[in-house]
Amino acid sequence: MTATTAARAVNPLREGLRLEQTPPPCTMVIFGVTGDLTHRKLMPQLYALTIDTPLPAGFSIVGFARRNWSQDQFRTEMKAAVESSQTMPVDEVTWQSFAQRLDYVSANFDDPAGYTKLKEVLDRLDQERGTAGNRIFYLATPPSYSPIILNHLKESGLAERAIPNDNARQGWTRLVIEKPFGHDLASAQALNNEIANTFAESQVYRIDHYLGKETVQNLLVLRFGNGIFEPIWNRQYIDHVQITVAEAIGIEGRGEFYEEAGALRDIVQNHMFQVLSLVGMEPPSTINERTVRDEKVQLLQAITPLRGASIASDVVRGQYGPGWVNGRVVPGYRSENGVDPDSIVETYVAMKLRIDNWRWAGVPFYLRTGKRLPQRATEIAVQFKAVPALLFAGTGTLAPEANVLTIRVQPDAGISLRFAAKVPGAEMQIRSVNMDFFYGTAFSASGPDDYARLLLDCMRGDPTLFARRDEVETAWGLATPILQYWARSPRTNFPNYEAGTWGPPEADALIERDGRRWRRL
Ligand code: BG6
Repeated sequence: MTATTAARAVNPLREGLRLEQTPPPCTMVIFGVTGDLTHRKLMPQLYALTIDTPLPAGFSIVGFARRNWSQDQFRTEMKAAVESSQTMPVDEVTWQSFAQRLDYVSANFDDPAGYTKLKEVLDRLDQERGTAGNRIFYLATPPSYSPIILNHLKESGLAERAIPNDNARQGWTRLVIEKPFGHDLASAQALNNEIANTFAESQVYRIDHYLGKETVQNLLVLRFGNGIFEPIWNRQYIDHVQITVAEAIGIEGRGEFYEEAGALRDIVQNHMFQVLSLVGMEPPSTINERTVRDEKVQLLQAITPLRGASIASDVVRGQYGPGWVNGRVVPGYRSENGVDPDSIVETYVAMKLRIDNWRWAGVPFYLRTGKRLPQRATEIAVQFKAVPALLFAGTGTLAPEANVLTIRVQPDAGISLRFAAKVPGAEMQIRSVNMDFFYGTAFSASGPDDYARLLLDCMRGDPTLFARRDEVETAWGLATPILQYWARSPRTNFPNYEAGTWGPPEADALIERDGRRWRRL
């Protein structure tokens, strides 16, 4: 055992996990295991998970992809992926024991023989490793393959639709599917119909890794585990909310993907609407997979849909040109590989949303996201109303700034409350100060990363933090009219922000028009 694994062995997180939460043994089949997502996230995080948490010894992973790799080649590739991700150091002994969990099936996704081979491997693992027929099928493939794979899973009898959660007889079967869940409302509905032909909704885990982020999950605890926030979490006390997902990176070699996606599909429709629904939802009567998701859907349904003129005034799109980020010259979006030199795809979106319910009427939610912004910063800022009377006006000091509660998702996950304090001294001078909570300093253990945490929930059979069909479709119902409006009125002034700046000037105008400003991050 290395120093790292020894340190992890006494990790308080382990002690914190309750026995009944340990998942039963199962096999996770990853379709598209040679792809980018598996290399950067899934395999490194599954490796870390097997060390950090009491996963059953039998937990196994089967890679399924077209590449003609041998078993050994597959293991070597996966080791290289875990090492280069730097999620955690890889020592030989731990790796060897992890590698025993790995199997590989090489086949085309549309080849029935591949599924027969897969069935044999799964049956063998049930015998040898005690996985008891428990299976997770993870679709980490480009969206066009989803219907093909789903169909073959059904035809081959691997997707036993009739017996979800029946541990006693044949084990359970679950489907994890990656975004994008369609590219508009109609295609999302079509995909969901395909899924429903093969799996019951209770077997489906649509993964949005933002829901696996510690601070996003902590929103529920912050709001409903404390007595002081919920009474003021409404239109009486809150002036507005800002949600920012800023990225310094560009499109990281994913030109072809991004040309089909753009920021609205890539970030807003899923990650940002998920975060928004957790910030705005009503308290559920209890926390479980149904109640939490019911409340999230209700919140999304209460958002005033944007149409025609309101899209023109309340939604801003941008695309980065060349510029400087972190002291480095970077090319504009149109010069990236795989991108049309005349592309009108947006790499930035800002919008103002209204939520038409008793809690939020009159409280705007401003959302912004962009690539090649000056820094990586994801946060939710709840801006409270200013004090009603300026008691200190006569003392020559400026009026105190309104309070802001900031929930930092990344980096430096934590929560800050900004409030006014008197500057020490004989004069009456007021300055805003922060009361800060940092995860890194308050807790010694960080817990599993986003994907790992969600996969652990899937193994335990808890879909609370996965997107349900109606959530996804409601979110597309909000995003699709914007996409359609944009398609009807394509932008001609792209690029309209320089890489390394905070987006196009229209985004500032959007919020300044209401007498407010984007937070400086
Ligand atoms: C992904 C998007 O879903 O999320 C990427 O496809 C984006 O474009 C990424 O960079 C951001 O995730 P994170 O965890 O780095 O904030």
